[in-house]
Amino acid sequence: ATRRHLSSSSTRMAVNNMTVFGGGLMGAGIAQVASQHGIKVTLCDLTDQALATSKTMIQKSLSRIANKKHPDSKDEQQAFISGVLDNVTFSTDPQASVKDVDLVVEAIVENIKVKKELFHMLDGECDAKTIFASNTSSLSISEIASATTPARRAKFGGLHFFNPVPQMKLVEVIRTEETSDETFQTLLDVCKRMQKRAVSCKDTPGFIVNRLLVPYMFEAVRMLEREDATAEDIDAAMKLGAGYPMGPFELLDFVGLDTAQHIMDGWRLKVESGEEKSLSSDLVAPSGLLSQKVKEGKLGRKSGEGFYKYN
Ligand code: CAA
Ligand code: NAD
Repeated sequence: ATRRHLSSSSTRMAVNNMTVFGGGLMGAGIAQVASQHGIKVTLCDLTDQALATSKTMIQKSLSRIANKKHPDSKDEQQAFISGVLDNVTFSTDPQASVKDVDLVVEAIVENIKVKKELFHMLDGECDAKTIFASNTSSLSISEIASATTPARRAKFGGLHFFNPVPQMKLVEVIRTEETSDETFQTLLDVCKRMQKRAVSCKDTPGFIVNRLLVPYMFEAVRMLEREDATAEDIDAAMKLGAGYPMGPFELLDFVGLDTAQHIMDGWRLKVESGEEKSLSSDLVAPSGLLSQKVKEGKLGRKSGEGFYKYN
């Protein structure tokens, strides 16, 4: 009942600064959009090299936006780009990155153990006020939050963005049994501030979008493995016959084959252990072809090759 009657006047915290962990495809986009909307951002990754790549990604995306915003003035384009970038601090020091921060958004590798280790460490470092959110695609928010103290679990939720973050208008906001009303409301406010449409979903595998999208992409790979049709024809079919902006192989290359595999591997473990009953074992079966590509480092667009080759 509390959830249904949550009014817009309920208490919430103003988020003025945020630290994003992981400056990959998602983290760079989240940092960019937060900064575009006036939130002060620290972006933390493991190495300076990773951060240099994040900065390049942000710059490229901002210049596309700047070209549209100020088509006739190179100076205004440049001022827009620097304005957004000046609001982002790049750091390889996790402890220093979370000093006094209002919100931490985690967008590191899709691995439960690694995510829990990060949040356990951050719980010890952060103020009591700091809200924690994970951008996980498929893992349980409650399970990640269990690496923190009960007080923090009330300040823990899911904030699931979509790739490419500057373009995709949706964020899934996940509340667990322990997430407080104030935390949930604050997360909804952050989405609004970032001009995203928030939807909420229970803490279930893949939430709304990935629960539907990931099995669809794996089914396309199985179709290719059976040689029912070529990747090009499957992609053309879904674009022209179903109106999707990308076919399943283009989308797999876009999402990252490693990320897609991590999602399926995580689900399969839960099905095999009997912990997850709502997914069938056929749905989470591994794909030999996908695993092979990941082994070869063919991770999609980000590595230059996946199902297709990129320059
Ligand atoms: N930053 C800023 N602007 C961008 C951009 C970026 N990264 N990418 C595209 N744009 C802009 C372009 O400048 C262009 O602007 P105008 O139309 O105003 O000129 C516009 O967006 C369209 O871009 P393009 O013409 O290059 O490409 P497109 O029309 O084919 O759209 C797309 C690109 C939005 C990515 C579209 O192909 C699409 O929606 N694809 C599907 C993406 C999708 O399904 N994402 C979800 C993946 S699943 C996920 O994220 C969840 C998970 O946990 C795995
Ligand atoms: P990515 O591989 O592009 O980036 C991950 C980044 O995290 C890398 O730069 C890596 O160096 C960094 N990292 C790893 N451990 C770290 C640590 N302890 N501290 C700081 N940085 C660390 O991955 P991605 O596609 O951006 O995915 C990140 C998360 O977002 C995953 O949980 C993924 O499931 C989720 N997600 C991905 C997509 C997508 O389409 N790719 C969409 C929505 C959500």
